[in-house]
Amino acid sequence: MDAVEKSDLLIFTTPTYCMRTSAPMKAFIDLTFTYWMSHKPRASMFSKKAVVISTAAGAGAGSAIKDITNTLLYWGVPYVKSYGKAIQATDWEHIKPELKEKINKDMAALAKKLKNSKAHAGIKTRFIFSMMRMMQQKGMGAGEEERKYWQEQGWLDKTRPWKAA
Ligand SMILES: Cc1cc2nc3c(=O)[nH]c(=O)nc-3n(C[C@H](O)[C@H](O)[C@H](O)COP(=O)(O)O)c2cc1C
Repeated sequence: MDAVEKSDLLIFTTPTYCMRTSAPMKAFIDLTFTYWMSHKPRASMFSKKAVVISTAAGAGAGSAIKDITNTLLYWGVPYVKSYGKAIQATDWEHIKPELKEKINKDMAALAKKLKNSKAHAGIKTRFIFSMMRMMQQKGMGAGEEERKYWQEQGWLDKTRPWKAA
């Protein structure tokens, strides 16, 4: 998570396993649950960009991606792009040449988009944050330690993570 917090752009990739993200990726998501806005989100997340990529042999890449984009939303990452593809193969070598060409083209376009965009906390991020803030204010969080963290960040007063970030 030190590496994640130091990075401006987060790139997540996962194969599609049984229509969802891989088990190691799910384990990573579970290990980082304290970073969710419902617990102790990190201010640095609110100015990051992220991209989530998954391939499936046939189907399910969308659901595999959703597992990760949902986590990023709750971490507070405001700018998230994704790319999912059914590749009708199990490795890069066996993908049809025209599909490889399309993927390379799509990746170049995605990279350009990521480079030229700015990460600003939008209405969805701000709304979830304000709901979680209300919860902490009312003592409905997971405990005193969490409430203290929110207090120390100044988030129970006027400070917001997207301003501090
Ligand atoms: C356990 C397992 C589950 C899979 N489930 C799906 C699936 O739900 N949909 C699909 O299209 N492909 C599925 N595949 C195919 C993989 O998405 C594909 O083979 C991928 O390239 C595997 O990546 P890996 O070589 O990094 O394991 C599955 C493969 C494995 C091993």
